[in-house]
Amino acid sequence: MSKVERKWFYLVFAVLVVAIVAYLGYNIYQQQVYPTVTSIKNKGVLIVGTSADFPPFEYVNQSGAIVGLDIDIANAIAKELGVKLVVKDLSFDALISALQGKQVDLVIAGMTITPERSKVVDFSVPYYNASQAVISLTTQKFSGVNDLKNKKIGVQTGTTGESWAEDNLVNTSVIPESNLFHYDKLSDALLALKRGDIDAIIIDEPVARMFVRTVSGVQYDFGIYTGEQYGIAINKDSKDLLNLVNTVINNMKNSGQLDSLVQKWFGSG
Ligand code: ARG
Repeated sequence: MSKVERKWFYLVFAVLVVAIVAYLGYNIYQQQVYPTVTSIKNKGVLIVGTSADFPPFEYVNQSGAIVGLDIDIANAIAKELGVKLVVKDLSFDALISALQGKQVDLVIAGMTITPERSKVVDFSVPYYNASQAVISLTTQKFSGVNDLKNKKIGVQTGTTGESWAEDNLVNTSVIPESNLFHYDKLSDALLALKRGDIDAIIIDEPVARMFVRTVSGVQYDFGIYTGEQYGIAINKDSKDLLNLVNTVINNMKNSGQLDSLVQKWFGSG
């Protein structure tokens, strides 16, 4: 190599090294920071975590697709971002850690805004009001908490229904702790009910109403007023994403689009 050639060689080499280091560094940086509007746009996909066992908010339809009111809201957010929507189906109890571990960009799962959860994640403005309810097989009817004395009760792990049952059934000795059965997926709680392993399930009232319409042999026993509100959970460091999500929800509320979606997914009856 001549002197000039060597100079060029070193120059090209140095530029390459700088480019590679910069590229790797940028990738590591991207993986470490919480999702932002820009990082999601760059990625071209919005990854949403849910637990698809909660009709009509999110469930797997006959063609195997995850659909529902929450998925429609997620689609509106993806559209606003100009990216594709990817839905990850996890167990409800795993959603907040998936969000913190950055496996998902946001969580939309009929998740109630609670003070405990608000310590670790941010919530969007509320988009739906709900309470709890008791459902059972039509073979035995429960009219109030007293009827649940020593019954076997199913709840979904990590839910507000589970906390309600712990506070109001176990801690008050209506049932022994061993009579509270915890399920990762609501579908498993329903199977247990059908098998007769448990007497009743405590779940969110709108979902209870949907189950009694669609699952034969299951009835609505009574409602438990808890005054809950659903919100979309977002990492505390993703404030620009939170703002965008709030704008989308507020627009959907003001335009009447949210009401039409509720109508679409709950129908009449
Ligand atoms: N609203 C209740 C809670 O936040 C139950 C939500 C369950 N959601 C679901 N997709 N299974 O704890």
